[in-house]
Amino acid sequence: MRTIIEPFRIKMTEPLKITSQSDRVAALEAAHHNVFLLDAEDCCIDLLTDSGTGAMSTEQWAAMMLGDESYAGSRSWKSFEASVSGITGMKHIFPTHQGRAAEGILAACVLKPGDIVPNNSHFDTTRANIEYCGAVALNLPCAEAFDTQAEAPFKGNMDISKLRACIAEHGAEKIPFAMMTVTNNTGGGQPVSMANLREVKAVLAEHGIPFVIDACRFAENAYFVREREAGYADRPLMEIAQEMFSLADGATMSCKKDGLANIGGFLVCNDDEWAERFRNLLILREGFPTYGGLAGRDLEAIAVGLREALDYDYQVYRHATVEYMVERLTAMGVPMVRPAGGHAVFLDVRQMLPEMDPLLYPGIGVVNALYLAGGVRAVELGTVMFGHFDADGVEQPSPLELVRLAFPRRVYTQSHFDYLVEVIEQVWKERGTIPGHRITQQPKMLRHFTCHFEPI
Ligand code: F0G
Repeated sequence: MRTIIEPFRIKMTEPLKITSQSDRVAALEAAHHNVFLLDAEDCCIDLLTDSGTGAMSTEQWAAMMLGDESYAGSRSWKSFEASVSGITGMKHIFPTHQGRAAEGILAACVLKPGDIVPNNSHFDTTRANIEYCGAVALNLPCAEAFDTQAEAPFKGNMDISKLRACIAEHGAEKIPFAMMTVTNNTGGGQPVSMANLREVKAVLAEHGIPFVIDACRFAENAYFVREREAGYADRPLMEIAQEMFSLADGATMSCKKDGLANIGGFLVCNDDEWAERFRNLLILREGFPTYGGLAGRDLEAIAVGLREALDYDYQVYRHATVEYMVERLTAMGVPMVRPAGGHAVFLDVRQMLPEMDPLLYPGIGVVNALYLAGGVRAVELGTVMFGHFDADGVEQPSPLELVRLAFPRRVYTQSHFDYLVEVIEQVWKERGTIPGHRITQQPKMLRHFTCHFEPI
């Protein structure tokens, strides 16, 4: 097979600062050993997130020039609405400034203290929004999700028997809605099969529980369904996405991922009564329902971006990058979540540093080592992000200890990825020197963003 090439050429460039080892030591020290607190320009290859960091196409920039900034009923709203409704088929569409705003509105309008929201795995902001309402965010991933080495095709699936057990235990009235995150970001960017979505829908429908999709990476999930699930090999990604959404009663979306935009999100649903509640809170928190916290030009960029994310050649190229990384790193013996996920490579830190106590935050050690070795910024998805304190106040580690290298869309080229392989190789070879860390300062919620660390 011929080399899979980037299906675009570059028309505008942005310089990268090449830093020295001593620059990076000083920068990390100043950032209290938390890469979230680094200056972005000090990160040569910034893989902190694939959210809002993508490069827009000429079509998107051109559409932005058409942005209609009218307060109400703008032309740009019409483009946005047509694009979102064409893909999701939902009756009510609300733009939001990003995904967490959609989650916040959904949670505030529908949840009360003591309610339960099952999901394959909640993203951190989804969990925080649910818990903020006094409800419980419950993860019900399938069994394979916990085995980072199992080569199962749809490790993002939900465990259906656990969903049934949850409903039986708590009763449907305690579960105002259930969610599925496609792809499952915190579980390694792993996809959810159409069959599993259908089963989840069937179980929920039996009990009259609404089904909400966290759709951030819906186009990447549609690509996996096409590649891995029987019966979808010849289907356009648009049709697969439409089928996914047809199973749901609502969705939250961060257009900073598969909207290929730098900002934006939406909340959609079919139910008129939910829509009435969402609309009122949207006006209070985000803005008038035809712009919801976005400029007209952002609505235009998203309208185009959502369709571009469903372009098959784009998805082939995107997945080729992740697969290339996983192949090169596997050949070096670096433990990772297998098979390759959709938007990132996830290093399996528990296997990289098996001796280290999880409460010494080995993921932070690896993240900081990647930065020091080559200015690569990654993120810990482990005990700092997902650990919790039990009823006695004792810190409990996260079931998985991962480090995510997330790939911005259409931003880095092949040589950047070759450089990245070299940096990871160095960290892997020198893993015996990676220190544990202690937290010296932390906030009550979402501590990973702002806490301070000290190497031990
Ligand atoms: N749901 C999932 C699955 C996500 O990955 C994110 C964001 C959100 C919801 C919230 O969207 O950022 O627009 O408010 N994930 C980013 C990440 C931040 O790095 O994975 P948002």
